[in-house]
Amino acid sequence: MADVIVALDLPRAPDVLALLDRLPEARWVKVGSILMTREGPPLVRTLMDRGLRVFLDLKWHDIPNTVAGAVAAARDAGAAMATVHALGGQAMMEAAATAAGNDLALVAVTVLTSHTPDAYASALGRTRVDLSAEVERQARAALSAGLRGVVCSPAEAGLARRVLGEGPLVVVPGIRRRSDPLGDQARVAGAREAVSDGATHLVVGRPVLQASDPAAALREFQEEAGCVPS
Ligand code: C5P
Repeated sequence: MADVIVALDLPRAPDVLALLDRLPEARWVKVGSILMTREGPPLVRTLMDRGLRVFLDLKWHDIPNTVAGAVAAARDAGAAMATVHALGGQAMMEAAATAAGNDLALVAVTVLTSHTPDAYASALGRTRVDLSAEVERQARAALSAGLRGVVCSPAEAGLARRVLGEGPLVVVPGIRRRSDPLGDQARVAGAREAVSDGATHLVVGRPVLQASDPAAALREFQEEAGCVPS
């Protein structure tokens, strides 16, 4: 079983709230940097007042003191989950984990799903890089810094689960049904496959947002993930 998180990749609060009116079975939503920059904490409060769990996906990567402050703000705002980049380093992740405390599940973004091996190597100034080895290295670092888990592509979900062991969270975007367009996602998987690989949370955006019947689409993902609300 995994929870399905609806990625609210819409620019404005009224659009988000109109969508959510059509999704009474949503339990988790993801607020990313576009929506947060436009609408800010009042929208997060509104979402929580509707009984939703909020995943604040702002992918912080800065000096430890700054990231710890941002994480504390997310915790105080009542977010249930938030992200930092594993590449922010050990000291940054440790400071962030301390700031998160017990109530905020802080997870580390490993290799972005938009990176190809060549693009990633180029960003690191290397000629070649093995993405699986990078995800493994970053997952181990996140765990030893005290984070609660990782975000990774479906291609690395099984690897992340093996590296992290049983308890930690494995959050997986890039979830598609066979009939869904890929959009800009390269490495995708079905919900069932991601869950069997060890995902605990599936992030789904466009396949729900752009569906003619978003509620039916969400229900399909929830059924595949084994988390239909009672
Ligand atoms: O529309 P789609 O289902 O592709 O949305 C996936 C969501 O997951 C987007 O909000 C995207 O920003 C997010 N995400 C991702 N890859 C990551 C981390 C987050 O696609 N590595």
